[in-house]
Amino acid sequence: MRTLVKNIKGLVGAFEEVPRDVAGSEMAKFPILRNAWLAIDNGLIADFGSMEDFPGIVDWSGLSIVDAEGRWVLPAWCDSHTHTVFARSRSEEFLMRLEGATYQEIAERGGGILNSAKALQAMGEDELFDEALRRVHHAISQGVGAMEIKSGYGLTLDAERKMLRVIARLKEAAPIPIKATFLGCHAVPPEFDDAAAYTQHVVNDMLPAFAAEGLIDYVDAFCEKGYFGTEETRVLLEVANGLGLRSKVHVNQFNDIGGVELCVNQNALSVDHLEVCSSEAIQSLIEGFERAEGGEGLPTYPVALPGCSHFLSIPYTPGRALIDAGLPLVLATDHNPGSAPSGDMTMAVRLASLKMGVLPREAVAASTLNGAAAMELSHEVGALGRGYRANYIVTHPMEGLQDIAYRFTDAVVDKVFINGEIWEG
Ligand code: NIG
Ligand code: FE
Repeated sequence: MRTLVKNIKGLVGAFEEVPRDVAGSEMAKFPILRNAWLAIDNGLIADFGSMEDFPGIVDWSGLSIVDAEGRWVLPAWCDSHTHTVFARSRSEEFLMRLEGATYQEIAERGGGILNSAKALQAMGEDELFDEALRRVHHAISQGVGAMEIKSGYGLTLDAERKMLRVIARLKEAAPIPIKATFLGCHAVPPEFDDAAAYTQHVVNDMLPAFAAEGLIDYVDAFCEKGYFGTEETRVLLEVANGLGLRSKVHVNQFNDIGGVELCVNQNALSVDHLEVCSSEAIQSLIEGFERAEGGEGLPTYPVALPGCSHFLSIPYTPGRALIDAGLPLVLATDHNPGSAPSGDMTMAVRLASLKMGVLPREAVAASTLNGAAAMELSHEVGALGRGYRANYIVTHPMEGLQDIAYRFTDAVVDKVFINGEIWEG
């Protein structure tokens, strides 16, 4: 199966040599090739170039042609932070919030994550899988070409394993790469005295078993006042590092308790949320990134989740400041039933432009190549390099990338191609 996409108004993310990520001022230079063509062969990007130098078609057999006149072609979105496996919506809590309760107050009354856990514990694995696969397919139809999915709504050994098994099945069933994160420390279940006691159960009984079963790519904790402190997070990350597992950690959503510094020192793959981000936190991200650039360890990516800020009316992650500090900003959805009930990456790009001072080209880089890097997938997705998976978006006609946010309620994604084939699911 071969495809030629021709007359592309702007081809985005087509690198001669794809870098691992783009950071700081490089983000505003994310490649755009005007009036371009893109060739796909056998599910992979074969070649690209300018229409002016188009070599012509020699072999027409099995070739389908897409005329992208007026349209842009982008790498499919890479959503590096989701909670796509859950039992049911929490729409009733949303109504409570509209009536005046805060997200934290609802959680303190036994709602929130504990509410999702109760529902998930009661649901069978097959039903959970069917629901989650439906959500993954919906995300693909919205342009997602790779994603990460977390556990964390189980809160018992059996229910966490059930979630991770569902994610393992999604990896098999979905046509896109999926990474599994064990969010062992998400909330303290009522039967445990405190976060420290539950963390011991997670690191002694769950983590080694799930790792041995091959169910985990990364680990995660909700490092936040009222959830897990830096001490519990450190214990989890140290045990995970001992098993050769890196982490992607919820930090600085409501309070800065020093989680970023801890995670950078523990060589986390990403720190996610960062709505409350002190200059010390940014400084330690810079030091971590510079260490990695110097060949020592790997970077810790800062991941902003603007859908969560929008939905909870909390501050936006200082995306502009993070890019200006030279860092490789990442955007993701945080798709979950409590704080961000949407898996639409286009919305994340829009909010980054409208609310975070992030330029359109930077926002696209943060949602494609950098998202892939925050899942250690930037060697196969997130860019349109030769040999990369042909996971890409053909937009509706647009003047420029700024139209993604400018026409802020119009559809942007027209067609989605996954492994070279049009997505019709
Ligand atoms: O990323 N902050 C922690 N966890 C999720 C939401 C959890 C929930 O409300 O279900 C988040 O926002
Ligand atoms: Fe989250």
